Amino acid sequence: MILAREIRTQLLDAPIRARVKLLPPKRQPLPDREPVEPSFEPSVGVEPNASYWIRGGIPVVSEDETPYEVRNRQTLCRCGQSRNKPFCDGSHKQFGFDDPALPE
Ligand code: FES
Repeated sequence: MILAREIRTQLLDAPIRARVKLLPPKRQPLPDREPVEPSFEPSVGVEPNASYWIRGGIPVVSEDETPYEVRNRQTLCRCGQSRNKPFCDGSHKQFGFDDPALPE
């Protein structure tokens, strides 16, 4: 077994042409497999202090009625700060979005 430290030392010590041979092979395409994620029933929910989530292939359409790719699950921005609207890009965390979305 070769330790990562030994590989790193070999890479640093080898001439450039030799280094290429020491690198791991290119990624191989994945063989056809069963989907990893099961299909969800259509549903919508709210994450506290974060986004809306939609599951089950619910279509999302832009304001100008352009359809987005239909997916098994997606999250939609609820805080208004996403740079990838209508989808959540995690910006709610950076901006400290505070709406627990709990019934009053
Ligand atoms: S809710 Fe996640 S970026 Fe707005």
